[in-house]
Amino acid sequence: MLKSIMSVLVLAAMPLVFMTVTTQAEESDSAKYSTKEIMKVGFKGGLLKKVASGNASDDEKQKLHAMLVALGKNKAEKGDAESWKKLTSALVKASSDVLEGKDGAGDALQKASNCKACHNIHK
Ligand code: HEC
Repeated sequence: MLKSIMSVLVLAAMPLVFMTVTTQAEESDSAKYSTKEIMKVGFKGGLLKKVASGNASDDEKQKLHAMLVALGKNKAEKGDAESWKKLTSALVKASSDVLEGKDGAGDALQKASNCKACHNIHK
């Protein structure tokens, strides 16, 4: 009897263990994109343009979104944190709207990714 109770407990705890592992993996995932990398691959490399113009695959949309979330978590070496938060959260919101297929999300993403507006303050 005790043995079967124990095995039920072990089974019940399994999903918890897996969940913890996945969350940790997700966190280190977003931290692996440095701002430089995001600029090279996401912004200059054309991924952003592709997503904003509606020609990207779902995988590409996901990748860009993950990069933009990471960008928001990275710290800007120049400029104040308040402004960085505002600019990057607009990018995150636009890219998640693209993922959801909302109308005008591509245009919003295009607008939010104004290179000069951000570089003038933060680069
Ligand atoms: C939300 C702010 C933001 C936006 C929008 C932005 N950038 Fe940047 N960019 C930065 C910051 C901050 C740096 C400096 C990164 C560093 O040196 O660590 C940078 C650096 C760069 C670099 C140099 C990377 C390197 O290897 O040193 C390139 C190239 C670049 N951006 C391209 C672009 C292009 C193209 C766009 C527009 C399509 C753009 N960025 C939009 C914040 C932004």
